[in-house]
Amino acid sequence: MCGIVGYIGSKDCVDVLLDGLKELEYRGYDSAGIAVMNAEHISVCKVLGKISNLEKKVQTLDRSILKNAIGIGHTRWATHGKPSELNAHPHLGEFSYVVHNGIIENYKELKIDLEEKGHKFISQTDTEVIVHLFEEYYNLCNNTKEAFKKAISHLEGAFSVLLMSKVEPENIYFFKKGSPMVVAKGKVKNEVLFASTDAPLIGLAEDVVYLEDGVGGVARLGNIEFFSKDYTWSKLPTSKAYAQKDGYRFFMEKEIYEQSDVAGDCTLGRIHGEKIIFDELAKLDVDSIKEIKLCACGTSYHSALMASYLFERLAKIGVKVEIASEFRYKNPLLLKSTLFIAISQSGETADTLEALKMAKKAGLKTLVICNVDNSSMTRLADFCILTRAGIEKGVASTKAFCTQSLVLWMLSLYFAEIKKNISKEKLQDEISALREVPKTLLVKTKIHEKCRRLAKRYLHGHGFFFIGRDVFYPLALEGALKLKEISYLHAEGYPSGEMKHGPIALADKELFTIALMPKNMLYTKTKSNVEELSARDSTICAISPLEFDLADDFIKTDEKSHYMLEFFDILIVLQIFSLEVSIRLGNDVDMPRNLAKSVTVE
Ligand code: AGP
Repeated sequence: MCGIVGYIGSKDCVDVLLDGLKELEYRGYDSAGIAVMNAEHISVCKVLGKISNLEKKVQTLDRSILKNAIGIGHTRWATHGKPSELNAHPHLGEFSYVVHNGIIENYKELKIDLEEKGHKFISQTDTEVIVHLFEEYYNLCNNTKEAFKKAISHLEGAFSVLLMSKVEPENIYFFKKGSPMVVAKGKVKNEVLFASTDAPLIGLAEDVVYLEDGVGGVARLGNIEFFSKDYTWSKLPTSKAYAQKDGYRFFMEKEIYEQSDVAGDCTLGRIHGEKIIFDELAKLDVDSIKEIKLCACGTSYHSALMASYLFERLAKIGVKVEIASEFRYKNPLLLKSTLFIAISQSGETADTLEALKMAKKAGLKTLVICNVDNSSMTRLADFCILTRAGIEKGVASTKAFCTQSLVLWMLSLYFAEIKKNISKEKLQDEISALREVPKTLLVKTKIHEKCRRLAKRYLHGHGFFFIGRDVFYPLALEGALKLKEISYLHAEGYPSGEMKHGPIALADKELFTIALMPKNMLYTKTKSNVEELSARDSTICAISPLEFDLADDFIKTDEKSHYMLEFFDILIVLQIFSLEVSIRLGNDVDMPRNLAKSVTVE
């Protein structure tokens, strides 16, 4: 997830672009850049790190030669290619400049073909193919509009693009697919503005088009030409804070609703036909792996625990799951045939980082599954798989956990296939289910509304059990943690089979039990555990696709063909439920008391 801006007008283009990028920094900030051009001059400034670094660097520009300029800008959240000045956007060709948000899924094939035709690439990004493709076609047809359309038609994946070229220094070409982009008429006569979302435009414009997929065009002073008719003009919202949250009440709520989109980004380029591809692991000798150690903290530990079921069941590899703060001091057995996998949204959690160092020092192969490129862990590990969830602002992790779980499911299948521990048919069934995840993660209004109503009844709960079996036990732990950390109510997650070994002593009318009852995983077993709790007067909230008459409250989820699709379906319910309880209690959902987004201290 990145932020892109564009400007055509009479104001100081550099200042307008910088102001816009600052409003989009919440979308990514590992590098940034602008390109500003008029008929006589072009200036390009790119930096590693935040917009503030760019603001310093543009002080060196001679603004006097940049009058009546047009420009494009970008703030990056790395998905392909390490954060660096070289990989920062805008990307340059011989005579054109491009900024892009999304993932070009077929960039490798395009890059090889363009290099064979003599194009010189200088970055490791997927984006750079756009500018070379445009120039290749322009050199053939000598028509910018046709060249732009042709270039775009060869791209696969998600891409919102702004492109400008020396051959037409008054035009900005635009196209939207997958990642968001808006185009607006400025309040100042003849101005045209572009941005990834409407936040940067508030105060500068009133009329905006929220571009739909497949819509593109070209803009110049006082004119916006759309290549197709499917667009409508809207009025901009008036509050910036409201806009940065895209109209949601909290970043956490926005990030829950983003999960469907980021799940698509997370799988892009990794599911190829009936195979799972991880280019990042090309040099990993999977056959030499005899055991896996998964190590993490908090919510990331829950995705690790979930993965242990999948690695053993699908890849037939023995797994040990470690809480990093325990692992560090237990003098663990570390064998070189073990693959050590650290899981971390931030890549900076002190305990997980130290555990990773221990494993590396002991000579284990190390892999980190992380959401922040260029973080301490991604720089240290031998291998890194990015979850591509985009920036997660809410302290309570939602889309990071979701994409971690998705990566780990894909990784278990990747290992299973290489080790020949899965049949072709089984692999195809799993991949078919994987393809359904983005759609499964769409939040249904009826579910959100049901959770909102239930929150009214549960917000004074004295104690909650979240119970489930198999991968729904780690999910129960995650549901309990979500409720604890943003509503401050006491909640525990348990394997539902554990009730009779002690916890059921707590069952009475004060105890709320949130029962995860998927149809495709040990339903009958779980049902009998829930009946035991109900018989002792615990208030039961059942989450299931199957009606359950003993439930005091019932959240009906959709019937799914695979238990992992039920996993993601029930995850949404747990996240929305904790969100609505916290909102009713009047808590600061995004910044709960006593917590921090990244625990970089022990
Ligand atoms: C999850 O909602 C919490 N924010 C917390 O448990 C978090 O998952 C934990 O601190 C680990 O952080 P990391 O994923 O960045 O390593």
